[in-house]
Amino acid sequence: MTKRSDFVVVANRLPVDEEATVEGRRWRASPGGLVTALCPVARAHRGAWVGWGGAAGPAPDPFDHDGIQLYPVGLSSADVECFYEGQSNSTIWPLYHDAVEPPAFDRTWGDAYRTVNARFADAAAGVAARGATVWIHDYQLQLVPAMLRARRPDLRIGFFLHIPFPPIELFMQMPLRAEILRGLLGADLVGFQQKLAAQNFVRLARHLLGLRYRGTTIDVDGRGVRAGAFPISIDPKEMEQLAATEEIKARARQIRTELGNPKTLILGVDRLDYTKGIELRLGAFRELLEDGTLTVPETTLVQVATPSRERVEHYDMLRTRVEREVGRINGDFSRVGIPAVHYLHQSYSRPELAALYCAADVMMVTPLRDGMNLVAKEYIAARIDQGGALVLSEFAGAANELRHAFLCNPHDPDAVKEALLRAIGVGRADGRRRMQIMQRYLRAHDVDRWARSFLEILQAPEAHE
Ligand code: ADP
Ligand code: G6P
Repeated sequence: MTKRSDFVVVANRLPVDEEATVEGRRWRASPGGLVTALCPVARAHRGAWVGWGGAAGPAPDPFDHDGIQLYPVGLSSADVECFYEGQSNSTIWPLYHDAVEPPAFDRTWGDAYRTVNARFADAAAGVAARGATVWIHDYQLQLVPAMLRARRPDLRIGFFLHIPFPPIELFMQMPLRAEILRGLLGADLVGFQQKLAAQNFVRLARHLLGLRYRGTTIDVDGRGVRAGAFPISIDPKEMEQLAATEEIKARARQIRTELGNPKTLILGVDRLDYTKGIELRLGAFRELLEDGTLTVPETTLVQVATPSRERVEHYDMLRTRVEREVGRINGDFSRVGIPAVHYLHQSYSRPELAALYCAADVMMVTPLRDGMNLVAKEYIAARIDQGGALVLSEFAGAANELRHAFLCNPHDPDAVKEALLRAIGVGRADGRRRMQIMQRYLRAHDVDRWARSFLEILQAPEAHE
């Protein structure tokens, strides 16, 4: 019998991912920023978490993990193909990221999206106690708020979108557009990373469904649905504490030694995703090597790229292009035993990531579009020595907050090169000053504050403006 919970997180992914090994199945940390941000929140609330375990097949039994009760939802291989790889990651993901790759549309995917969303709504309805707060997350589950309200009108329902919300013209391309919008409007509060996204949403409600709104509260059949911006964050203490240990300091030194003690170590850490601008980053590096502005072995680029969504065509093509470009740069500029680019198509532990952050002189975060980008925030938090410099795309949500990074327009190769060179050449005092300002900001705007600000509004009595 399921123990009902007063605080329930619902996300496509559980915080841990089921991995098949020769010894059998085991659990490991799931990829991506959503899990990084939500783990401390779910733990602090001693909440339940409804999500998919990452493998096709029947759902394992509920279990406890790190103080959180996990309720797995099963996805069949057909669900993985049509709901996860299809509607979620081939239609909605590219459409919401400015269509930086063309979204694909397939009429069979909509049915799978509906069916799987209903399964999550059923699971959440079975886990939530009377009057509980249920917090639904991200683009894979946009129908769940309305489905859950229909099943359990007693609940407080919040929804947070971790990725950008597109302008009306782009959203209107979506075959399920009205259904998705009605799905989101089932929540009491709909949260976005940016103000502009919340405004897009409110305007869309009028444009598509003719709903009235005042400020950012939309009138849905006499019920006020609030929309707002809640920029997500990290727990900076986690990286600060790791960076302060002797092990990580030693490991950071060792990484530099293993790389041949370059004068400048440039780092990229991303899921291997076409929104992250990995190719343009490599392109900027290659051009700077070609014109002799940068040289090997004085400069080295380390690119860590977590495998992601590998069966989706655009991801497979991206991997081929990135690996070809890495091969090309290394062919032209490496020396025996000293590659120009170290490319690691792997997932790393948190301590190893912290050591990489501490070792890097320049961190390059250059997405073409990103809801927030937590890697940028993790890098700042890890630099307790106040060294290092961050190159950051203006198209990452984080750029609205980390104004003392070296900001650039990722669509302009010369601007990326210029920002990289400014970051490489930053003086010690200026670099420290920038780091200090951004660290102060992060400490005051951590993930705990993000969750509190959302939940306070969600749980407050409805106030019509
Ligand atoms: P996204 O959510 O799109 O993946 P974010 O930058 O917001 O992008 O979050 C990525 C999260 O995944 C961060 O917490 C980061 O530390 C983690 N991460 C990224 N690359 C790796 C990797 N190679 N190994 C382990 N964790 C990674
Ligand atoms: C981003 C999305 C998350 C997603 C994560 C990893 O952070 O916002 O919803 O879980 O990427 O992607 P995956 O497809 O592996 O779950």
